[in-house]
Amino acid sequence: MTTAPGLIAAQAKMAAAGVDQTAIDVFSHYFGELEAGATGLIREDTIEPLLDPPFLEGVEVSDEQAREALARTAIIRLNGGLGTSMGMDKAKSLLPVRDGRSFLDLIVAQVQQAREATGAPLPLVLMNSFRTQEDSLEALAPYPDLQVDGLPLDFLQNAEPKLLVDGLMPAEWPADPTLEWCPPGHGDIYTALLGSGILKALLDAGFRYASTGNSDNLGAVPSARIAGWFAASGAPYAAELCRRTAADRKGGHLAIRKADGRLILRDTAQTAPEEMHYFTDGHHHPFFHTNNLWFDLEKLYAALTERGAVLGLPLIRNVKNVDPTDSSSPEVFQIETAMGAAIEVFEGATSIVVGRDRFLPVKTTNDLLLLRSDAYDLGEDGGLRLAVGAAPLVDLDSKHYKTMQKFEARFPHGAPSLRQATSLTVKGDWTFGAGVVVRGDVTLEDTGKAETIPDGTVLEG
Ligand code: UTP
Repeated sequence: MTTAPGLIAAQAKMAAAGVDQTAIDVFSHYFGELEAGATGLIREDTIEPLLDPPFLEGVEVSDEQAREALARTAIIRLNGGLGTSMGMDKAKSLLPVRDGRSFLDLIVAQVQQAREATGAPLPLVLMNSFRTQEDSLEALAPYPDLQVDGLPLDFLQNAEPKLLVDGLMPAEWPADPTLEWCPPGHGDIYTALLGSGILKALLDAGFRYASTGNSDNLGAVPSARIAGWFAASGAPYAAELCRRTAADRKGGHLAIRKADGRLILRDTAQTAPEEMHYFTDGHHHPFFHTNNLWFDLEKLYAALTERGAVLGLPLIRNVKNVDPTDSSSPEVFQIETAMGAAIEVFEGATSIVVGRDRFLPVKTTNDLLLLRSDAYDLGEDGGLRLAVGAAPLVDLDSKHYKTMQKFEARFPHGAPSLRQATSLTVKGDWTFGAGVVVRGDVTLEDTGKAETIPDGTVLEG
């Protein structure tokens, strides 16, 4: 069998750029799958729903167990993505959320507050990619007390070439050669934790557990109770789940694979469009996956060194444009894996259902508008909590609000008041004045031209 020209070219490109051999091996494994036509789809008839995970509120955790476990816990935040779906080309976590404070500022506040309240050292470690590292470390520079035991504040994930959909050759983009590369999804955390040496460094410094989550989820504050439960469970790995409501479209779900009885993760990208109704049906798959994970670092280290870095996580085939901001640029495949897919790899991996407040992701400008509004209160501890019974539904016209640039231009004075709103649907191009208040169900219709809502308007459904 001959090796595909695309693979040879990609391997040479990675080697020339100094990419670690293990990362090249992992990429080559997935290239083989892609070439063989893998789409990564998980069909509904191959899985059973997960119906009876334990609930955090029902488990016994003593204060001492919780305190001891938290004292040995590191906080890892995934910060390598770019928020391309919001038209961004740098770390989403640098966006201001409240009073000019970014996701990163609020994560730091959460960690520092938890340190003060519990006495746990709680080192914070970001997983950055080559596109997010410099800016993010600069954003942490004003916090000189953040570092613990000389541990680094971040580690770098790997980079791989984007592959042309037409022919699988590495894409070339001389206008900006950095756009020829992408991070391999957050499933790369395992390769990167081991390859960067940070896993060993955390163990050497006496840390045993890691609480891992997305940097765009401000709900995943350090939790002594979950740490205590996880330590007592003896599991190598645990995923936090939430109960799915009718409004929840996001979040993959765990399921039991019929072929071998293992717990697996199924994400949106792994679900056939005609089977999405099962995916989002809260009766059929009652719990969704938050991407908040817990690792036993000792067990993780043993498993990774024993198995080698090619964990064989299921492939996610993403199709994007080589320049994500230019839809006429060539289409590329970005080969990715998901961190939470590792649940099928670690023997004894488990899950727990947590409160909805631990899941507050920002995937779209709709989510960001909500978090910037008074529907959420920002606590002293950097935690954002719903100020009302249920979050209003926000649906902004994707033509005028999808990218950050368009969104900011239409909300020049920040978010309107949404505390008394049930829903806000905006069709067409509306720019909001200062102090606008939304009450009940409000829909702004498309008039075919740019409109302005005057300062102080009360929109009542
Ligand atoms: P998402 O998959 O939601 O990606 O990442 P994203 O960057 O937020 O959005 P798009 O798809 O580009 O629009 C979930 C979390 O994982 C991180 C992101 O930074 C985010 O915190 N991530 C994602 C990585 O650290 N590395 C990756 O390769 C991909």
